Amino acid sequence: MTELVRFIIDPAAQDPHADDDRLRAAGPLVPVTAEGVDAWAATRYATLMTVLTHPDLTREIQYWDPLERSKLPPGTAIDRIVTDISMLNADGEEHRRLRAPLTAAFTPRRVQRLRPTIEALTGALIDDLATLPAHEPVDLRARFAYPLPRDVISEMIGIPPAHRERMHELTDAVAHVSADLADGPRVREELRALLRRIIEERRRSPGEDIITDLIRLREQDGGRLSEDELFATIDLLFIAGHVTTVNLITNAVGALLHEPGQLTLLRSGRCPFSAAVEETLRWDSPVAYFPFRYAKRDVEIDGVHLRAGEAVLACFASSGRDPERFGADADRFDLTDPPASHLAFGHGPHFCLGAPLARLEAEIALRALFTAFPAIRAAGPREELRQIDTLLGNSTRTMPVVLGP
Ligand code: HEM
Repeated sequence: MTELVRFIIDPAAQDPHADDDRLRAAGPLVPVTAEGVDAWAATRYATLMTVLTHPDLTREIQYWDPLERSKLPPGTAIDRIVTDISMLNADGEEHRRLRAPLTAAFTPRRVQRLRPTIEALTGALIDDLATLPAHEPVDLRARFAYPLPRDVISEMIGIPPAHRERMHELTDAVAHVSADLADGPRVREELRALLRRIIEERRRSPGEDIITDLIRLREQDGGRLSEDELFATIDLLFIAGHVTTVNLITNAVGALLHEPGQLTLLRSGRCPFSAAVEETLRWDSPVAYFPFRYAKRDVEIDGVHLRAGEAVLACFASSGRDPERFGADADRFDLTDPPASHLAFGHGPHFCLGAPLARLEAEIALRALFTAFPAIRAAGPREELRQIDTLLGNSTRTMPVVLGP
């Protein structure tokens, strides 16, 4: 039997799109090793669509080959995601049970009601930026892209302002726990204790937020969600609702500042801000790779034979650059031709719950930023920006800009 040559996915790669081009050229499903675990990478748009809806692929971890599972390095991004007991890792009836309590909070109509809140939070951050020296470089990721989604999701979930900072430090530590394995269990324990306190506070004084809704639901029908599931859900919303949107805002600002012609189109009103959001989602997707789907039985997908128990990695950023779907110019950021569709929010039953919220936040953020600072420009060349080094995310660690003329 021929030995498969596996591509190594290196989260620290400085040109992730070049790596994705290589993977896409190698086949529709490519054998890879990611954080020490073997999987098939679904890199092309059409194949990824198939993978996201295929009846023989599941998110349920019990179908995963035990030998591969035993290679899971504890504390890595993959470990954290595939062992989570939230909706992410359920399918069918179980998935609906875990996701249904949240769908009402995230419909486009409900999310639009948050517009004044998001605009006010954005306005406060812009006011803070305006107090900084206009000619000195400022990191827009840290000062703007990061706090906005954090504060929005905190409001929605019902995290009281007094606990937000610590909650964010802890979820950040959990999200990046591979850098500090020794502290992993301690951090998780503290996060749990803090969540328990917040839930108790909401139980005593209910608000108009997701925690209050979930508590009510638990009390009304005898615990449709167990306590552990309630924790996992809040945790998931917090993490999924934060860094992804930070990446989206950072990537959009970077694309526009490094492509001044495109920014002019936006400023002149010839292209709407929503086009900048959609084109960024396609061209520089906030999520790079997402683990895993497992083959329930032997299955053939786009000519590649998968054995029962094998894992498939979804390559969201790669699918957005696929020339078979987006043409020979797929590598160009072009606001005059935003995509009619893309897979940056996934597809099928696990389609991103927070997509309407992320879109609204990014649109409000970009409009406010480019209106408040007409002379904003990049503080250095794009080549000097360093990539974040997580398997999941696709963005730069900083976004240095100069705000004034
Ligand atoms: C699922 C991307 C923002 C909550 C997903 C998936 C993707 C994604 C690709 C599907 C994963 C898969 O099928 O393997 C993004 C991007 C975002 C974003 C690019 C921002 C730009 C948000 C926000 C929230 C959120 C703001 C919540 C407040 C979720 C949840 C799921 C999910 C709960 C799991 C859905 C399920 O398993 O049924 N997201 N997301 N996301 N996202 Fe997002």
